[in-house]
Amino acid sequence: MSITDSKQKWNETVVAKNIAKAPERMAEFRTTSDTEMERCFTPEFNYPGYDEQLGFPGQYPYTRGVQPTMYRGRFWTMRQYAGFGTAKESNERYKYLLSAGQTGLSVAFDLPTQMGYDSDAAMSMGEVGKVGVAIDSLADMEMLFDGIPLGQVSTSMTINSTAAILLCMYIAVAEKQGVSADKISGTIQNDILKEYMARGTYIYPPKESMRIITDIFAYCKDFVPKWNTISISGYHIREAGSSAVQEVAFTLADGIAYVDAAIKAGLNVDEFAPRLAFFFNAHNNLLEEVAKFRAARRIWARIMKERFGAKDPKSQMLRFHTQTAGCTLTAQQPDNNIMRVTIQALAAVLGGTQSLHTNSRDEALALPTEDSVRIALRTQQVIAYESGVADSIDPLAGSFLVESMTDQIEKAAMAYIEKIDKLGGAVEAISQGFQQKEIQDSAYAYQKGIESNDLVIVGVNKFTIKDEAAPELLKIKEEVESAQKISLTAMKAKRDEAAVKAALAQLETAARGTDNLMPHILNAVKTYATLGEIANVFRGIFGIHRETVVL
Ligand code: 3HC
Repeated sequence: MSITDSKQKWNETVVAKNIAKAPERMAEFRTTSDTEMERCFTPEFNYPGYDEQLGFPGQYPYTRGVQPTMYRGRFWTMRQYAGFGTAKESNERYKYLLSAGQTGLSVAFDLPTQMGYDSDAAMSMGEVGKVGVAIDSLADMEMLFDGIPLGQVSTSMTINSTAAILLCMYIAVAEKQGVSADKISGTIQNDILKEYMARGTYIYPPKESMRIITDIFAYCKDFVPKWNTISISGYHIREAGSSAVQEVAFTLADGIAYVDAAIKAGLNVDEFAPRLAFFFNAHNNLLEEVAKFRAARRIWARIMKERFGAKDPKSQMLRFHTQTAGCTLTAQQPDNNIMRVTIQALAAVLGGTQSLHTNSRDEALALPTEDSVRIALRTQQVIAYESGVADSIDPLAGSFLVESMTDQIEKAAMAYIEKIDKLGGAVEAISQGFQQKEIQDSAYAYQKGIESNDLVIVGVNKFTIKDEAAPELLKIKEEVESAQKISLTAMKAKRDEAAVKAALAQLETAARGTDNLMPHILNAVKTYATLGEIANVFRGIFGIHRETVVL
């Protein structure tokens, strides 16, 4: 069948079925010259391998996008990562962002919350409310989402080692709003492997961490079916200095490890795989980044179909969030970052992202001011509503450069995945420091390029300004730590200590056995047991992970 005939069939079947459920944004999409912006442009000539390598949007191998109508049906979710200080301050920022037009929430937690410590723990000193919001108990989560209808918004939570606890708190808040767990949608990052490899907020050893993760998979498939149970992340791998190829390869190798672990835990691949999600970086080289996203979709589709025998098309779709590259933001001439973020955001959209965070111009220096975060969000809105790139699907397809680069990235990433397979899989390779060493070597080469001026960073090693004035920065209130400790003490004075004690004892019994931990964590958070108290139960049984130092 010719490509033209295949396209007609795709429009009359897959697209028609999708549009019946979710109409496109406009009746027709045209340029200022009144030219039709076709849904999906294809070659008018014979293109060897078109069906196997590209296909159509919403069809295997999904190279051109996971949805049949992509942004013609629904723009990507504009989902700004935000959170700082107390739950009240963050709640105000979320309401500001929603009023400015963002379409999804994304919670940044402070390091004590990410590392399983309450705000009054010695380890928390100086970090409470700094890089994200401080959450000690269900009381803080109720404040965090006060006035935000959890049945109508999807929420991402960047939380890994303590993801199960925060998800249970979120479920409990939704229930208090009258929204049952099967109605809430969102994502927990819950990707512990990249924490060992690149980001560092791990607590427990790999085996125990994987148990918690697969318990979440098993629980959510039955009770929280609209929840994306993991956001397998390449973002931080890239931020640690990896190349685009390494970002794809190490992320998908982690994905393979999670699928393996879930199958070993007794789950059928199509029971949990549709709710696996991914998270990638959008770096400076626009064309390489577009090719990277397209290659990643095709690799994952083939891995899930051929390696794991996944039958459900949703198991084969790589759905991902993108954040523009924090590591490319410069402290010098911060307004230059607006242009960098624009290029990176455009790459994510041309690459078919489902959700997007755009960094703010001042984030190399501090958490963003309201002005800066508004500009970051407006960047997405201008691309969505004014640039036209959202009106036709995968518009760079067919470019000699993009198709060749897509193939090259796929080939090089597969070579890494095969290497990791030979090392015994991602978990084993990480314990040997393989991925960490590869990332360090790439990071070193990149930094050497900047220092030798071979790599130009505008405003940093070229086109600099002498004695540049410092920009206006967000001021974090210093008294967050004491305010948080006071509210924690007050909360504890009101709760039923006997109920807390019983719930923690029940959790300990479950952790020592093979029960799914989620119901016991949910029971504990509802008694207002704190995040630290719950994490400490697991520390006492699972122990803590010690990093593999790679020289
Ligand atoms: N036609 C029909 N339906 C469509 C459609 C179309 N064209 N486009 C979308 N839809 C549907 C989808 O199918 C979905 O419905 P479903 O859930 O029933 O399938 C619904 O509309 C929502 O669409 P998406 O699922 O594509 O979009 P979401 O935004 O809800 O989800 C995601 C995107 C990538 C799957 C999800 O995992 C997500 O939101 N991830 C965000 C992760 C995130 O924000 N991480 C931040 C990390 S910050 C960090 O770590 C950095 C720090 O450390 C510095």
